[in-house]
Amino acid sequence: MTYTDFGLVNTRDMFRDALDRGYAVPAFNFYNMETLQAIMDAARTEQSPVILAVSESALKYMGGDLLMGMIRGLKLDGRGVALHLDHGGSVAAARAAVDLGFSSVMIDASKLPMDENIAATRDVVAYAHAHDVTVEAELGVLAGIEDENTASEYGNYTHPDDAERFVAATGVDSLAVAVGTSHGAYKRKSDTEELRFDILNEIATRLPHLPLVLHGASSVPPHFVDQINRLGGDLGVARGIAPDQLRRAVSMHVTKINVDSDSRLAFTAAVRASLTENPAGFDPRKYLTAARDAVRDNCVDEIRHIMNSAGRLI
Ligand code: G3H
Ligand code: 13P
Ligand code: ZN
Repeated sequence: MTYTDFGLVNTRDMFRDALDRGYAVPAFNFYNMETLQAIMDAARTEQSPVILAVSESALKYMGGDLLMGMIRGLKLDGRGVALHLDHGGSVAAARAAVDLGFSSVMIDASKLPMDENIAATRDVVAYAHAHDVTVEAELGVLAGIEDENTASEYGNYTHPDDAERFVAATGVDSLAVAVGTSHGAYKRKSDTEELRFDILNEIATRLPHLPLVLHGASSVPPHFVDQINRLGGDLGVARGIAPDQLRRAVSMHVTKINVDSDSRLAFTAAVRASLTENPAGFDPRKYLTAARDAVRDNCVDEIRHIMNSAGRLI
């Protein structure tokens, strides 16, 4: 089976259009039927291209056969939906995803020395491109501004020289860069901390045709955090990347923005609210419907106000 049998597309055309017209394609992570339905509902309603992102642990959680059964059930028509392996940790994992029917894969060898990252990425590019599957790689270490990023001018951020060398050596289709975002719900000490737009701009200037990717780009909407904390949760002070910074990044060739934590927060806040409002209820479909609606509404909001990808389906 190849991805075209599932009505999926690779990311090549969607990225070219996003780069030309100055928007980002949303990559939303999912791990069950409800999150998949929520993302697809949002993308269809908004006529947005979308990347369905599956981490290795999410793939294990769903099982490959069940996952591909759900993808088949979407009855896709070959327009605007890519299925993407997120943070593939090995060449073998990326190849297996291609074989399963993924249309895009990430090889994340960013923790390895540069030459090993290049070697692993080249292996994945050779296999994936032979199947017309697109490849994302990562350079630099994704960490918060709160971490030790000051050892040199660039620290763990992506060095523009490295980015140029890496892209030339690998032929990768898109590159995840480290410019101050980080995974999870605790990204910032304050609302005023900025991404390293100077580095982002330098990379975009040197590699004008390369789609850039922001991982760890959830905005961590305060209303979800407040709702969870109010209804028995204990998230403390969680803080994401401000939407205006994400929009600014989109103006600097960021053509894919990854969001997982925001959907998890929306889901959890809705489950807590549903169970609190109906303490005698025990039908999971009730609180999962609330969760699915909340994830969908948040995806719609981000498609409209962060990605600027509404109405961009090609
Ligand atoms: O970037 C990582 C994603 O948020 C996936 O995380 O391995 O817990 O599914 P996960
Ligand atoms: P967040 O934790 O900010 O949602 O990042 C998700 C991500 O980068 C998935 O690859
Ligand atoms: Zn990520």
